[in-house]
Amino acid sequence: MAASTKPTIPWKLRIMTSLLYLLLKASRRSNGTVNRRLFNLFDRQLPPNPNYIDAVATSDVTVDAKRNLWFRLFSPSASAATLPIVVFFHGGGFAFLSPASTTYDAFCRSLCRSLNAVIVSVNYRLAPEHRYPSQNDDGFDVVKYLDENGTVLGNVGKCFLAGDSSGGNIAHHVALRVCKERLRFVRVIGLVSIEPFFGGQERLESEIRITQDPLVSLEVTDWYWKAFLPSGSDRDHEVVNVSGPNAVYISGLDYPKTLLVVAGFDPIKDWQRRYYEWLRKSGKDIEIIEYPNMIHGFHLFPILPEASQFLSHVNHFINKQVGGS
Ligand SMILES: *[C@@H]1O[C@H](CO)[C@@H](O)[C@H](O)[C@H]1NC(C)=O
Ligand SMILES: *[C@@H]1O[C@H](CO)[C@@H](O)[C@H](O)[C@H]1NC(C)=O
Repeated sequence: MAASTKPTIPWKLRIMTSLLYLLLKASRRSNGTVNRRLFNLFDRQLPPNPNYIDAVATSDVTVDAKRNLWFRLFSPSASAATLPIVVFFHGGGFAFLSPASTTYDAFCRSLCRSLNAVIVSVNYRLAPEHRYPSQNDDGFDVVKYLDENGTVLGNVGKCFLAGDSSGGNIAHHVALRVCKERLRFVRVIGLVSIEPFFGGQERLESEIRITQDPLVSLEVTDWYWKAFLPSGSDRDHEVVNVSGPNAVYISGLDYPKTLLVVAGFDPIKDWQRRYYEWLRKSGKDIEIIEYPNMIHGFHLFPILPEASQFLSHVNHFINKQVGGS
């Protein structure tokens, strides 16, 4: 089968991503700061809604008001306390968006409905105002919150971590912390890593070859890493180049079973492959699914048939772990 040279994306979606590209470009200043006022003007946010809409109700739960750490809770039914919980980290280069942003509110609603699971969508602090490891600390603190206060929200014995793009990076590091620290009730039984954002100093083949996606061009991803990393660090930092320095160490950890979702036209995909190889070599259980004609972020757009295929695949993975644990 000949590989196609262009992703199969409808024109409507091309226009949407081009507009988003322009907005992000205008909001990222060359000195490494973000023009929040400009970005927030166009980032439409939705309030939580306690009424069931298409069988999903939402509410916002504060974890630590001092650092504005909260999560949006998506519950599929009144008897949610028996359902698995998926702790979700949104994408946006560590620097943009929130669980209230229209796209992520809609995406978590569809996750909640399709998986029949409680979704906890984390509002972590954003870079560059808050650099690494703020995002990972916030993520783990939400897991700790669930350990102490989560039993009324869902079945904390059947927790999953999930994230897309930079959120996939955060989910990985929160998974490592869960392995290393003691939790009383929370059991993380799976990780859904959706086009996770990893990197390194080296330029991999996919980063050089795939140039038609302006949302994740090298120029853009370099900016995100710079805004996120502590000053003085380069992209071989262990939070970026994850399969480098930590390679030996992970073997001894009880890393959760992982589903890795890859898009064929994602320039970051060769880094995701390295992540996959690294986990495999370290004896971890990881399954990879590639959507060859898709772009980075395709799962967020319900007009794509692949977005529904993605949901069924995640559903299958979640059910398998819930059934088997
Ligand atoms: C659990 O909830 C209580 C009451 O809201 C709060 O004081 C406590 O910090 C929470 N636990 C964690 C680990 O956040
Ligand atoms: C990742 O980090 C390791 C260890 O620091 C280094 O040896 C390796 O060259 C890095 N990989 C890439 C692709 O940059």
